[in-house]
This record gives sequence, C-alpha cells and structure tokens, in this order.
Amino acid sequence: MAFIIAITNQKGGVGKTTTAVNIAAQLATNKRRVLLVDLDPQGNATSSLGIDKAALPATLYDVLVGDSTVAKIVLPTKVANLFILPANSSLVQAEVDLVSMTQREFRLKDKLANVDADIIIIDCPPALGLLTVNALTAANGVLIPVQSEYFALEGLSELMNTIRLVRGGLNPDLDLFGVVLTMFNKRTVLSEQVLAEVRQHFGEKFSKLSYLEMSVWLKRQVMERPSLSMINGAKVRGRTKH
Ligand SMILES: Nc1ncnc2c1ncn2[C@@H]1O[C@H](COP(=O)(O)OP(=O)(O)OP(=O)(O)O)[C@@H](O)[C@H]1O
Ligand SMILES: [Mg+2]
Repeated sequence: MAFIIAITNQKGGVGKTTTAVNIAAQLATNKRRVLLVDLDPQGNATSSLGIDKAALPATLYDVLVGDSTVAKIVLPTKVANLFILPANSSLVQAEVDLVSMTQREFRLKDKLANVDADIIIIDCPPALGLLTVNALTAANGVLIPVQSEYFALEGLSELMNTIRLVRGGLNPDLDLFGVVLTMFNKRTVLSEQVLAEVRQHFGEKFSKLSYLEMSVWLKRQVMERPSLSMINGAKVRGRTKH
C-alpha cells in the first residue's frame, strides 16, 4: 500500500501547493513512484505541472463523487515517475455532494486503496471542509506548511483540533510529520521570529525537515515547472515502508 502524506493548512497562500509539488517531484526523481492528488478546486497543482485544467474530460470530482476510478483520470507528467490526479473548479461541487453520501469521509481513502504507487501526496484546499477531512482520513500523516509571515500561527489551533477529531474516530493512526516553514528569509528578523514561535508551539514536531526559502527564482520555477532542488535538504521523515 502506498504511503500517504496530506499537505494541509486552511490558511490560504501559505505554500501548500508549492510544497506538495516539489516534494512529489523530488521523490519521483529519487526513483519513487509518486502520485500527486490535487484535492483543491483551484487546481493549482494540476496547472503547475503544465496541465490545462479547463480541458480535462474527467477529474478527481468524478472519482470522489461518481463511479470513476483513479486509473481512468490519472495523468503522467513531464517528471518521470510522477503522476497526478487532476482537479479543477468542478471539485467545488464535491463539498456539497459528499454531504449526503454514505461513508462520505472515506471516499478518497477507498478510491486510493489499490493505487500502485510508493507515495501519494495530497495537496489540500485552504479550508477544513469535507475535502480536507477526506485527506486526513486517507493519510498516514500530515505535513503543515507555515508561512514565515505575520500571523503565521493563526488558525493552527483549529487545524490541530480537526486533526485530533480525525484521530478520535476516522483515522486513529494519523501522524503529524512536522511543519515546513515556507517563504523563509533568513535575512529578516520576522522569519527568525516565526521560526522561534513555531519551535515553541510544536516543540520536537518542528523537525529540521525543511524550510522553503523565499526567492523570486523559486516563484518563477514554480510557474514554469517543478524544480527538483527547491527544498533545502528535504527528506520526508516518518515511517518509511519503501
Ligand atoms: N518559497 C517560496 N518563495 C517564493 N514564493 C513562494 C514560495 N512558496 C510559495 N510561493 C508563492 O506563494 C504563492 C502561494 O503559494 P501556494 O500556491 O503554494 O500556496 P497555497 O497554500 O497552496 O495556496 P492556496 O491556499 O491558495 O492553495 C504562490 O504565488 C507561490 O508561487
Ligand atoms: Mg494550493
């Protein structure tokens, strides 16, 4: 069974997609078979891999809500070993349609159950609705990108509470792999302050996993293609089954 990592933070624009795409690309380059799941109706992970999200005949919506399968919608990318389950704005409707479905929190988990990949990375939307709950239910663990900005920790207690709730019933084994500080600029006092705050808040869970430095170069790379060396010494920690 694939090892599943959910990249989540309900705060918008903190670097979830950038983190998800780059960890996925890096792992694929290291010869892992990686499936990136775009669980965000914005479809940013899909477009950042050069896929025209408006032209997709079928998307993750059809898998989550309909009878379609992962095999029917999965797409290869320009990166060898990296595949994606694409999404677009049609996924907005999933939040509504899932409500009345049986086992609504387990839809993603069930559909990913037999996927032939080493690692599955889920890029979550900036919300704590049913889509994110589906990701948390399916995942082995969570990685939380936190932007090195004012109010960095805002909303994190709500997210931690959701994680606790999911652990309480839907997915008792859900792990917290750590926090990734994004858009970190070591030349600023602010970034250092956020780093100290995050350390204090999460203690040992703030691993040296990585911080994604702020860079214009990076921004351009993200737009053009997933770069393979964006994450400083990134290693996906936690249990390795591979
Ligand atoms: N390390 C970085 N350096 C510079 N720019 C970055 C970095 N990480 C992310 N960005 C930029 O910040 C913006 C937000 O990043 P991203 O889309 O990954 O965030 P997100 O959390 O997925 O957003 P959303 O909540 O809307 O899904 C993007 O324009 C992205 O290019
Ligand atoms: Mg995003």
